[in-house]
Amino acid sequence: MQLMRSWLFVPGNRPRMIRKAPTLGADVIVFDLEDALPSAEKASGRRLVAEALENPSGGSLRYVRIEADPGRGLEDARAVVRPGLDGLVLPKVSEVSHLQQTDAALGALEAGAGMEPGSVRMLAMIESARGLLEAPAIAAASSRMVGLFFGAEDFTLDLGVFASDDEGPDEMLYARSAVAVAAASRGLVAVDRIVPEFQTLEPLAADSKRACRLGFGGKGVIHPRQIACVHQAFTPTEKQVEKARQVIEGFEQAHREGSGTVQVEGKMVDWPIVEKARRLIRMAEASKSEEPD
Ligand code: COA
Ligand code: MG
Repeated sequence: MQLMRSWLFVPGNRPRMIRKAPTLGADVIVFDLEDALPSAEKASGRRLVAEALENPSGGSLRYVRIEADPGRGLEDARAVVRPGLDGLVLPKVSEVSHLQQTDAALGALEAGAGMEPGSVRMLAMIESARGLLEAPAIAAASSRMVGLFFGAEDFTLDLGVFASDDEGPDEMLYARSAVAVAAASRGLVAVDRIVPEFQTLEPLAADSKRACRLGFGGKGVIHPRQIACVHQAFTPTEKQVEKARQVIEGFEQAHREGSGTVQVEGKMVDWPIVEKARRLIRMAEASKSEEPD
């Protein structure tokens, strides 16, 4: 099971951060050629990112966020599609045709770079009302699709929502749930918004827990300090694992004795509950195998 809990954004024009990124233990590094990059630094940014892909990854997957504009986005892709690249993050996606065009362009770029066809995956950012309404079709647009990302800042700008209360009632509940459901409908990972506050981690921890409950599998992060906090929120606790084992054992025993349902600690346990327990254990095991010795 491939874990994609933390997606660390690294500005494509910051050599020091680019060098540091593979040492930080993020599940995914996203070298950013979009919002974080002044246009004067575009050419050097593309070069820096392309070079970084030739260096060891430190065990992280490596994605590049290209520009939303199809022409400039394609130029970005042309500069970075090479062995070492796991995928592209596509910002502000609102039309399926955009993904289909990118899919076709990637086929040619992969062939030119001697890469396996289809090896460059795509993560689409849902950051507008139109994008949200198209999210199920976007999730189904290409076999390269790996997930959907909820881009909250652009989304609330589009919606005309100015207040954002990270602790209180969630004005984005509908949008976040819709993104999580659209991703799940195609077996993709849903990746939740970044939390810009990185000095204190409480807002991130609370927001990550909420995202996990909504069905997200990970979160965007912008600072090294945020990585462990997100991993913790998206990794089952010892207590959850213990409970899951009891559920599976109880169910399997009942099954051996010819009964389809069983009770564990006063609660009925049937097939979907057992499947969730198995999935939780797979997640816990995948996280363990990633921990440094
Ligand atoms: N990736 C890799 N390394 C990072 C990093 C990141 N996103 N953010 C910080 N670091 C490094 C710093 O370079 C510094 O390393 P050093 O001690 O070797 O110099 C260390 O982590 C501590 O950083 P700190 O001094 O606390 O923060 P900063 O002032 O250097 O950077 C930000 C703060 C917000 C500017 C920076 O985290 C950042 O640019 N994040 C990404 C923002 C982004 O991509 N936004 C667009 C997408 S949402
Ligand atoms: Mg954005």
